[in-house]
Amino acid sequence: MDIQKIISEMTVEEKASLCSGASFWDTVAIERLGIPAITVSDGPHGLRRQREDADHLGISQSVPATCFPTGCATACSFDEELIAEMGKAIAVECIAEDVSIVLGPGANIKRSPLCGRNFEYFSEDPYLSTKMAAAHIKGVQSTGVGTSLKHYAANNQETLRLCISAEIDERTLREIYLASFEGAVKEGQPTTVMCAYNKVNGEYASENEYLLTQILRDEWGFDGFVVSDWGAVNDRVKSLASGLELEMPTSDGVNDARVVEAVKSGKLDEAVLDKAAARLLKVIFDTQITEAQKAKHPLDLNKNNEKARAIAAECIVLLKNEDSLLPISGDKKVAFVGEFFEKPRYQGGGSSHINPYKITPAKESMNIFPNAAYAQGFSIDKDETDETLLASAVKLAQDSDICVIFAGLPDRYESEGYDRKHMRLPDNQIRLIEEIAKMQPNCVVVLHNGSPVEMPWIHSIKSVVEAYLGGQATGVAVMDVLSGAANPSGKLAETFPLRLQDNPSYLNFPGDRDKVEYREGVFIGYRYYEKKEIPVLFPFGHGLSYTSFEYSKLTIDRDEVLDTDCVTVSVNIKNTGSRAGKEIVQLYVAPKSNTVVRPIKELKGFKKISLNSGEEKTVTFSLDKRSFAFYDTELKDWRVEAGKYGILIGASSQDIRLEKDIIVKPVIPYNRPITVNSPVAEAMEDPKVAAFLNKLRETVPNPPHLDENNPMADMFAAMANELPLRSSAMFFGRMITQADLDEVLK
Ligand code: BGC
Repeated sequence: MDIQKIISEMTVEEKASLCSGASFWDTVAIERLGIPAITVSDGPHGLRRQREDADHLGISQSVPATCFPTGCATACSFDEELIAEMGKAIAVECIAEDVSIVLGPGANIKRSPLCGRNFEYFSEDPYLSTKMAAAHIKGVQSTGVGTSLKHYAANNQETLRLCISAEIDERTLREIYLASFEGAVKEGQPTTVMCAYNKVNGEYASENEYLLTQILRDEWGFDGFVVSDWGAVNDRVKSLASGLELEMPTSDGVNDARVVEAVKSGKLDEAVLDKAAARLLKVIFDTQITEAQKAKHPLDLNKNNEKARAIAAECIVLLKNEDSLLPISGDKKVAFVGEFFEKPRYQGGGSSHINPYKITPAKESMNIFPNAAYAQGFSIDKDETDETLLASAVKLAQDSDICVIFAGLPDRYESEGYDRKHMRLPDNQIRLIEEIAKMQPNCVVVLHNGSPVEMPWIHSIKSVVEAYLGGQATGVAVMDVLSGAANPSGKLAETFPLRLQDNPSYLNFPGDRDKVEYREGVFIGYRYYEKKEIPVLFPFGHGLSYTSFEYSKLTIDRDEVLDTDCVTVSVNIKNTGSRAGKEIVQLYVAPKSNTVVRPIKELKGFKKISLNSGEEKTVTFSLDKRSFAFYDTELKDWRVEAGKYGILIGASSQDIRLEKDIIVKPVIPYNRPITVNSPVAEAMEDPKVAAFLNKLRETVPNPPHLDENNPMADMFAAMANELPLRSSAMFFGRMITQADLDEVLK
């Protein structure tokens, strides 16, 4: 396809029209030039294809599709292959429905547990989040269907999402919020990126040239097109010039006319429009759904339902399992309690809301346990206790060997469009759990929620199963775990704090009117709790299994490396229990001689492996410069400080099993320019300056900071070292000027 030739034949009006939707979901077709339209649809955990009434809030009906587990659940699998497989299955449904681009994945970071859309996002950790997003993209795109990595960037809350400005310092933006997109762009090469609604540091993401062009394209090499979130455009001409190619949905020609007028008046260079048209045309032609694709990827919804079930089981996290209460053997008298048992909450509200062609509540598999009974216990639609429902549930629990309570957040508690106000379960559920626990010592709580909840009842409950919002087959997947047909293998992709107030964003969420300041900086999630030594309910990376794993033989291929080297780390993992299982092995890097403020450790690798009972495998990780680096805002680049780094291998962020140190040195050491305002100690790192200063020092009789016998030697030394050169007359005999330094350093 000769795109440049097509562009040369297009009028300004035609090019402008291509840059905004023809309708809610379709791009513009220009028949005269053989330019076809494409259809895009939500995403991310299934297809929301609307044929008639269109909306971006999941209100009107969409065609039946498979609802796979949501991002909060899939991230707990820590399994890139699995996520890719899910992406591919979603794409097959797109092909059947002639959808060229499925809008997702969402790579926004979970800054606060209150964000109403956390269920669509992966993690509080950018490394995990970006790997999951890349895997999703690769899976979808392996079929020729396109993706839209969203919402770029810093859309970390729903409150005032179309107006708020996320105020984030550069290092935090780079290390946390952009890093979550960066790997996904570089590794996944998404066909499109969706800009966020909000402003970032005062500028709308939709017209932010720094984000859309300088970073996304020039630095990360993105070569698809950028689409606006639905209605995110503020100034269309500015957004086009900044790097936003497609406005969605249609502006009914209003913004097209503005673009045409800007080109004709000379305000907008026509070359900008040409470039945008070229980027759009490339993706439009590349993602046409073809008959060949349909033949290659036939749709089988039943097969996808089975996939949804298998994936859901891989994502479930066993948070607690005292006395090995789980799995439950078939001969037990089991009380199932809680309305979620018959009506699972398996997805969240808003634009990702899928119309599942099939839902399998846990209750449908109740016959796995021949001696089981069910009591509703509470009503999902209310927060108040229904005393009759409560009493019969307590009675049933009391008369059984074990009680499994299905609790969670109702739809109205979390959704796109608003944030939660607190982290509690509804009152009627808390009361039910507490009342049952008084009468029945063997209790399990199964949770359906898109984000952490407080668990004031945790000490009276032996087992907790976190099922998150696990898609249409979540019910049966949970039963697989309860019965032991599936061995749980998920681990938390976020920290569960003990209480909301412990969360680092607590004082600055959701912000003041038009601004939200990310004052906690890089210290979000476990980075904060660890640094402040704040106890948590369940740490990042935590998750139990019905078997046990032994970690041994940590080896690093070298003791000392340069930051350009690739480091290979390996470790042996053995299944020491009696059943097959999967373990997620986590690698954290802990800087130990850092001079800049950094988290105690950060996730830099993970692997999920499957082991039969008694089996042992070697897991290998590769580390590169980025594994050790922080973003240096002076250098405007990633930098590795020379020194010692711990390589920590763990079963969770708090369960580190093995540790070894390595020395890393930068190939090109970074020395800050020395000025008269540099502290003496820093200036002395330069041998020439050191020689010059030492020579001056010789002229000073009895310098107090060099006299070890002086009782105030420590104070003098500290003062001498931290004094800026310009004030060092008292320790070096005379003023040191910039001219001195220029002379010494030339
Ligand atoms: C959401 C996007 C979604 C779009 C289209 C917006 O409200 O923020 O995630 O893709 O609508 O439905």
